[in-house]
Amino acid sequence: MRPKFHSLKVKDVRRESRDCVSVAFEVPAELTEQYKFKQGQYLTLRETIGGEDLRRSYSICSGIHDNELRVAIKEVKNGKFSGWVNRELKAGHVMQVMTPTGHFTSELNPAQSKNYLLIAAGSGITPIMSIARSVLQTEPGSEVTIIFGNRLFHSIIFRDQLEDMKDQYLGRFRVFHVLSGEPNEVELFSGRIDHYKIEGFCKSFIQIDKTDEVFVCGPEPLIRTVVDFMKEKKLSDQQIHFELFATPGDGQAAPTSPSKEKSEEQGSKCSVTVVYDGQETNFFMPMNGSSILDAAQKSGMDIPFSCKGGMCCTCRAHVSEGHANMKVNYALEPGEVEMGYVLTCQADANYRKNHCGFRQTLIDPRSLKLSIIFCDPVGVMKD
Ligand SMILES: Cc1cc2nc3c(=O)[nH]c(=O)nc-3n(C[C@H](O)[C@H](O)[C@H](O)COP(=O)(O)OP(=O)(O)OC[C@H]3O[C@@H](n4cnc5c(N)ncnc54)[C@H](O)[C@@H]3O)c2cc1C
Ligand code: FES
Repeated sequence: MRPKFHSLKVKDVRRESRDCVSVAFEVPAELTEQYKFKQGQYLTLRETIGGEDLRRSYSICSGIHDNELRVAIKEVKNGKFSGWVNRELKAGHVMQVMTPTGHFTSELNPAQSKNYLLIAAGSGITPIMSIARSVLQTEPGSEVTIIFGNRLFHSIIFRDQLEDMKDQYLGRFRVFHVLSGEPNEVELFSGRIDHYKIEGFCKSFIQIDKTDEVFVCGPEPLIRTVVDFMKEKKLSDQQIHFELFATPGDGQAAPTSPSKEKSEEQGSKCSVTVVYDGQETNFFMPMNGSSILDAAQKSGMDIPFSCKGGMCCTCRAHVSEGHANMKVNYALEPGEVEMGYVLTCQADANYRKNHCGFRQTLIDPRSLKLSIIFCDPVGVMKD
């Protein structure tokens, strides 16, 4: 199923902490199938705010059996979208909501008994909450441990729900809070979640050699630390899952400058064929220039995107002919890159710099042709 926007009515807006609300949407019966989600996936919301057409991704926080579609949105400083949602959005408002996408998930099976280690910081708890709830609901033999970092006690999102889950799933669910802005007499529970802290948790509470799946969501340094630690402990890439909400520079693509646009007009061009929703569109795009996504938009195509920062995967497509190079990639797995998938918001048509592992064949740049197929966000090619 390709990602698609539909107008959904906001069912309720609930305050979860001082600077975070959760928003539930009404899904009409005829769209129920389209909005079925996997734990850990996200929605892209679209709204015109201050005259600007904005899209942002927000992870679903409900469990797959909760029978609700809910995201949680933490207000960031000077944040256009998160500020508007936290201060102005009310129940009854109708909003453009894309069908669920994302890879931050694993297959659930009621017959399996696994140990899940989930690590989150701040609003990173949102997909972690969905994963924890879904695992506990679906796999009666599995155990879930959350290590959750925050600055202050009152800023902990879903604090009460997490406590309730401890009672509901006694013996199968644990949550450890680590606060960086409040002292705690137990050193392990205060400060930032770093390498030493994770090692401390592994010595005292977690048997890492018996851990089957690790999910981490938070700032980039936390993700790097956890991924490196788990690799040291010999967990495989398939067992380690991460989701990044923002890069240190926020990664949003810089607008193209007029001088760059001029040099793009004069420089060599590449012929591109983009297939989306069964429709084929052909256009020329500058090499070494703008992203495939930008070029496709300039040619009038309405193709899916959200973060434009290489984080969300909404713009994923498959290169079936030619080469494209990604500037950054926080979302695709190494295996997907090897298979020829790219994030079109990060990929340009520079055949010379081949950083991302595609097969390299010798092509005359004057005849360079790139064919891109937009495909199912969870991996099934339809075209
Ligand atoms: C796959 C994915 C899932 C996400 N899920 C969630 C979620 O469940 N809950 C949630 O609250 N957010 C989530 N985000 C982040 C969200 O999409 C927005 O980036 C965030 O709400 C900021 O948007 P804004 O318009 O308010 O800020 P903008 O107006 O875009 O930016 C304002 C300022 O905030 C900085 N900034 C942008 N994003 C962040 C951030 N995440 N943290 C700190 N500073 C930031 C920018 O550098 C800028 O200085 C997710 C992002 C991705 C890619
Ligand atoms: S739009 Fe998010 S990765 Fe390209």
